[in-house]
Amino acid sequence: MDRILVTGGTGYIGSHTVVELQQAGYPVVIIDNLSNSNRDVLDGIERITGIRPDFVEGDCTDIETLRKLFADYPGIKGIINFAASKAVGESMQKPILYYRNNLNTLMNLLDLMAPNDVKGIVFSSSCTVYGEPDENPVTEQSPIKKATSPYGNTKQISEEIITDVINAGAPFKSVILRYFNPVGAHPSAEIGELPNGVPQNLIPYLTQTAIGIRKELSVFGDDYDTPDGSCIRDYINVVDLAKAHVLAVKRMLEDKSEAKIEIFNLGTGNGVSVLELIDTFEEATGVKVPHKIVGRRAGDIEKVWANPTYANEVLGWKATSTLEDTMCSAWAWQCRLRERGIM
Ligand code: UD1
Repeated sequence: MDRILVTGGTGYIGSHTVVELQQAGYPVVIIDNLSNSNRDVLDGIERITGIRPDFVEGDCTDIETLRKLFADYPGIKGIINFAASKAVGESMQKPILYYRNNLNTLMNLLDLMAPNDVKGIVFSSSCTVYGEPDENPVTEQSPIKKATSPYGNTKQISEEIITDVINAGAPFKSVILRYFNPVGAHPSAEIGELPNGVPQNLIPYLTQTAIGIRKELSVFGDDYDTPDGSCIRDYINVVDLAKAHVLAVKRMLEDKSEAKIEIFNLGTGNGVSVLELIDTFEEATGVKVPHKIVGRRAGDIEKVWANPTYANEVLGWKATSTLEDTMCSAWAWQCRLRERGIM
């Protein structure tokens, strides 16, 4: 089968996608600079699938590294691009880092696709492009709102770059996937999310609190215009999310795309509040999460959830995991990290 290049393939969503690709029979080569992951992830992937993916340690912002990769691994027909910086707060402090990493990586890949006969690229975008939506759930046609962080801006600009390059006649296709909030871990607990330092995102902070690394989870605001006053998101299981990438690659490689650029929302379609999520975690795992209500976090969106109909009907993808199972998987992963003495 055609070889797939997965940039950022040892990261959180990347590693889960490599597992699904290998299980679907695709040979994979990963490039990752290990800036926010480590080599042990390759062992986890191998334990789950029985296959160790090819791995290049390198930075996609360096086009010569990518040129060499294409020469060393011939027959790459698809690219899934996860190599990007992703912390909203950090992007406010280090905008150049974000624009350089996220945009140069994408442009280098797009530049090398035609000469290497690559047929398609899957791009990781985000529901952040919808900002604070006027209406929920959001469809792919909902208006794009001005980005509130350099991180969010890199996602919007990246979508525009892909569109411009393809409209200019590039001989390849793209599928842009707008993720809602990816959470959970592989059910084997062999791979999962491994944030550096103090987690900024809800689930890693919650599981670290549940296991006693953090004293208390702060719930950012209970005075929003939502039923219980806390913010609402669409929490999507990371394995469900990973499977969408396999479908996206397949449709481009098999010439099934309906247009040269397709955009899909990847969410469950259910909005869940922060307080509901904590309750679900506690009920599913039987473990208590000490928490307190604090003030709102600057920049937070009040409520956003997906209308995933287009992905359901056209991509043939649907989120199937329950939130309870997803919370149990996140907890099992946190416990595995403890067993291994990592956290
Ligand atoms: C943000 C970005 C999203 C990005 C994602 C991953 C925006 C609008 N969203 O999502 O694009 O892909 O990060 O980096 O830029 N919360 C707490 N306590 C905590 C942590 C979070 O109450 O300690 C709440 C937040 O207020 C929010 C929810 O939990 O309501 C989810 O937060 P988080 O996991 O950080 O993701 P987002 O901010 O939704």
